[in-house]
Formats: sequence, C-alpha cells, structure tokens
Amino acid sequence: MEIKKVGVLGCGLMGAGIAQTAASAGFETTVREVSEELWQKGFAAIEKSLERFAAKGTITPEQQKQTRDRLFGTTSFDDLADCDIIIEAIIENLGEKQTTYRQLDAICKPETIFASNTSSLSITEMMAATSQKRQQRFIGMHFFNPVPLMKLVEVVRTILTAPDVYEDSVAFGKNLGKVPVRASDKTGFIVNRLLVPYMLDSIRALEEGVGSVVDIDNAMKLGCGYPMGPLTLGDFVGLDTTYYIAEIMFNEFREKRFAPPPLLKRMVMAGLYGRKSGRGFYDYTKDPKNPTPMNLV
Ligand code: CAA
Repeated sequence: MEIKKVGVLGCGLMGAGIAQTAASAGFETTVREVSEELWQKGFAAIEKSLERFAAKGTITPEQQKQTRDRLFGTTSFDDLADCDIIIEAIIENLGEKQTTYRQLDAICKPETIFASNTSSLSITEMMAATSQKRQQRFIGMHFFNPVPLMKLVEVVRTILTAPDVYEDSVAFGKNLGKVPVRASDKTGFIVNRLLVPYMLDSIRALEEGVGSVVDIDNAMKLGCGYPMGPLTLGDFVGLDTTYYIAEIMFNEFREKRFAPPPLLKRMVMAGLYGRKSGRGFYDYTKDPKNPTPMNLV
C-alpha cells in the first residue's frame, strides 16, 4: 500500500516536528489536537522552524508555502478517518493512548496503519486496545528531537505486525527523508536502550564528584565528538521526561543501569526540568547559560 495521506495526533514538540517533516516531504498532513489554540501553537512553531530553514536557503519560499498548504489542523478525530497512516505523539500515558486508539479504530478505514511515537511505552500494550485486524497494522515510529533535523526514525514491529505493513512503514520512513532503522518492541528500542544508561551514568558521575557539570559535558562533547554533552542533552530532552523513561526501563529490565539516580529524582522534585522550565543542570534564564548552583554533598 502506498502511503499518501498522513494523520498526526498531538501538536506538541514532537507532533509538530513530525507534521512538519511529513508536509515538507510532500504528504497531505492532518494534525489533531484537543483545542484549536493548541494546534495553532504547534503550527506557529512549525512556521518558526520553516523560517530558519528558509533563512539559510535550505528551502525556497515556494517550498515553505507548499509545506504550509499541505498542513491542516483539526480538533476532530473524524478528519483522520481516511488517513493511510496516523502517527500518535500525545502525552506519554498508556491509558490516554489506549482510549485514543480505541476511538480511532472504530472510525478509521480498515487499511489505516496506526503508529506511535512513544519512546518507552509498549507498542504491544497500545495495540491490544484495538481490534484483531488493526493489530496487524500497528507499529512504532520513534522520531528524535528536533524532528526536522534529526535523520533517524526507529520503525518498531510487534510480534503481530504484518510483514507488508512493516515494509510499507519502513519505505514511508525513507519517503519522509529519514533513515529508518528496524527494531522490535522491547522497551527503549535501540536508541534509548543505549542512550538512557549513558545519560544516567553522567548524572551518577556528577553525584560522585568525578567532574563538574561543564567538565562532564565538555569531556563527551570534545572527547567523543557528540553534538551535546550528556547533561546538556538531559536538559534538552527534559529531566522529567528522562526520569519517566528511566523508571519505565528500570521496571521492565530491573537492571541498575536503568535506575534513575537520586540526584535526577531530586532535580525533578525541585522543578528543575531543564530547558522547558528555565533551569536544569544549567540556568537558561541567564545569557550565557551557567550551571545551576546546587549543593551536591
Ligand atoms: N528547525 C530548523 N532549524 C533548526 C531547528 C529547528 N527546529 N533547531 C535548530 N535548527 C538549526 C539552527 O538554526 C542552526 O542553524 P545554523 O547552523 O544555520 O545556525 C542549526 O540547526 C544548529 O543549531 P544551533 O546552532 O542552535 O545548535 P547546535 O549546533 O548545537 O545544533 C542540535 C542543535 C541539532 C539540536 C544539535 O545540538 C544536536 O544534534 N543535539 C543532539 C540532539 C539529540 O541527541 N537529540 C535526540 C534526543 S533523544 C530523543 O529525542 C528521543 C527520546 O526518546 C528521548
């Protein structure tokens, strides 16, 4: 089946990025949010990102306009009924996701592929909320922040995903301009399986006094050529999100490397969520950013 019409559920950071990517790649894209205000906010973020690409000359003004014209915002599930694929990027709450999929299963055409952008919840558990037929058409499509820039998409299959649906989804990932990697539905897939223990270890290193915030970041940035140090990356992903993912992975594997360190928990309890709240390992309310003063002993 050729995927032509794309639906996106949720127009937050990830949903907006996915919608922008799909529309830029030439797909008619309908984005559903709970209120018009929310999809308008997401569309404003898309516009800002397109402006950045246009200012650099990565896209022409004509491509910018075409991308805009391919995007439709809605608050109604019914507008997604004839989509070939629906990519869900709503809140990371299993119950909410299951309720949404159940509703969509009843109104979408039988061919519609359901895809979740979850980073750590079980695709199988979401899939189980839908009818037996749909279960074969259920996959994970995990994108990376910032979606318009990051080249990877993890395409995840469950034990029930039909082979042709999986191949169509991998091909769709390529048509989005991404590099798809194949993964099975094991918590964290490939990237978070490897990335989360690394990020948690960098916090343990800070707790143990191995190095300062800046030195730990510089060590990995300059010593390994990573675009960001692990603590800056934690602030970028969100420390609340990192904590949440680590908890899910620890519950699944019961391995110490996935256990969130006490410092991470305390920072989340103190409201230090990273960039989104203004402070995390660094204080973003000041320019230039400096490490947030914290009593570590
Ligand atoms: N849209 C368009 N352009 C954007 C953009 C956006 N959303 N965000 C950044 N840019 C552009 C900037 O305008 C800038 O352009 P110029 O080079 O022409 O100035 C360029 O990208 C680089 O941006 P910055 O100068 O602001 O900063 P940078 O060089 O550090 O790059 C970055 C930013 C691409 C985010 C880079 O730091 C990076 O790759 N960081 C790692 C990100 C990462 O690891 N993401 C995965 C997180 S894990 C995840 O998402 C999954 C999960 O489940 C938790």
